[in-house]
Amino acid sequence: MVLEIKKYPDPVLRKKCDEVKEINEEIRKISRAMIEAKKNSRGIGLAASQVGILKRIIIVESEDEPYIFLNPEILEKSKKQEIMEEGCLSFPGLFLKIKRPKEVEIKALNLNGQKIKMKVDGLMARIFQHEIDHLNGILFIDRLSWWQKLKLKNKKVRD
Ligand code: CO
Repeated sequence: MVLEIKKYPDPVLRKKCDEVKEINEEIRKISRAMIEAKKNSRGIGLAASQVGILKRIIIVESEDEPYIFLNPEILEKSKKQEIMEEGCLSFPGLFLKIKRPKEVEIKALNLNGQKIKMKVDGLMARIFQHEIDHLNGILFIDRLSWWQKLKLKNKKVRD
């Protein structure tokens, strides 16, 4: 299975992904293929909808190791927010400063079906929030402030 990363404005990026009900061979195959797809195009996270598969599967990379999470959910977000620059494999060359909660508590399943619950902050919190957004059809451009959107629009008009 070879998966191709869909680029904006591919309509699949706006679709909501379905829960993974059973961890079977198909899910394992998709997960492996997603890891391959991500490897071939540098990035530190990937959501299944980005390869046209509408299932709640994400990859989060930590220290060069890709980890698969199924049905990830944010349980809690810190009130404290921070601004970090984000990129997205569906928007090659676009890097945007996005404000999001600094720390989140997440739950998910791993490929062995084990329940995972953890608090993450910094870059990890960033990746989880960005990728979970993808599963809901939300893109990082949606998280810009109105002022950033206006600036971006004007830039496009000028270019
Ligand atoms: Co992305």
